[in-house]
Amino acid sequence: MTESSVQTQGRPARPVAEVALRPGHADDADECGRICYEAFRAIAERHGFPPDFPSPEVAAGLLGFLISDPGFYAVVAEQDGRIVGSNFLDERSTIAGVGPITVDPAVQNAKIGRQLMVAVLDRANERSVPGVRLLQAAYHNRSLSLYAKLGFELREPCVTLQGRPLREQIAGYSVRAATESDLDACNKVCFHVHGHDRSGELRDAISQGTARVVEHDDRITGYTTDMAYFAHSVGESNNDLKALIGAADAFGGPGILLPARNGELYRWCLDRGLRVVHVMNLMTIGLYNEPAGAYLPSVLY
Ligand SMILES: CC(C)(COP(=O)(O)OP(=O)(O)OC[C@H]1O[C@@H](n2cnc3c(N)ncnc32)[C@H](O)[C@@H]1OP(=O)(O)O)[C@@H](O)C(=O)NCCC(=O)NCCS
Repeated sequence: MTESSVQTQGRPARPVAEVALRPGHADDADECGRICYEAFRAIAERHGFPPDFPSPEVAAGLLGFLISDPGFYAVVAEQDGRIVGSNFLDERSTIAGVGPITVDPAVQNAKIGRQLMVAVLDRANERSVPGVRLLQAAYHNRSLSLYAKLGFELREPCVTLQGRPLREQIAGYSVRAATESDLDACNKVCFHVHGHDRSGELRDAISQGTARVVEHDDRITGYTTDMAYFAHSVGESNNDLKALIGAADAFGGPGILLPARNGELYRWCLDRGLRVVHVMNLMTIGLYNEPAGAYLPSVLY
């Protein structure tokens, strides 16, 4: 391993890996996916949690998709010509999203993660992005500390909830598939709740057929890009989200992310049998407004 070291007062020197950073290419997906799978599996198993990705192939599929999508910036770290980590920035909407960031477990804790984070934050600065967000696995002391040191503020603990579909309707709230013509109304709801829209993600979800809207009093009062880990939802009230959660056929990936301080909605889900998988922290830099409504964040985008 190519490395130097830093002497920290009163503590042993920590290795600093010298890495080359470069944009990701389509043929990096397999190796980045293997590292992504191994890195998440190692940290999850150490804490007794299920792995985020079921296999290296699934992780490679997701990263390959992100690398090839022009809406995402991909950065890869190489050491002696070998890939040792990667990171991503979702640039489709006003607020950019970071992740997944992963470093090969064999070379972790040597400042490679820091360099990959600085790379995407530099990119966000260059593009004058007003705010950056991420979801952090609360049990991982290292990433929590790294992000805090880089300036991220902890905004909200979120519970990942999983379980059988509720198949429940909320009186006065109807749910249907979203179409392109709903974009403006949905963006308005998001703007009302967050102070900015997430139109890039929503547009993609509509074209993929996963987005749904909820209507109340003959107007759109909420939407979801999918009831899933990789998707977000907003509503003017908890009833909008209850209608969307109640109408979901499944909760995709590890589950839906629910802000734990929304006690009413949290208890409503628990009362219906949903179970907590793990806790994730919503962290942000720059523009962040305390939400003025109900929402479920996405883990990535
Ligand atoms: C999270 C991850 C990307 C970080 O990369 P890394 O190369 O291991 O981390 P780095 O060495 O760059 O940075 C770790 C920082 O946390 C600090 N740190 C580590 N453990 C700490 C602790 N218990 N308390 C306080 N600070 C701690 C280190 O001192 C270092 O800070 P510094 O750069 O100011 O010295 C990597 O560990 C990883 O891939 N983990 C598994 C996947 C994952 O959890 N991804 C993030 C999902 S949110």
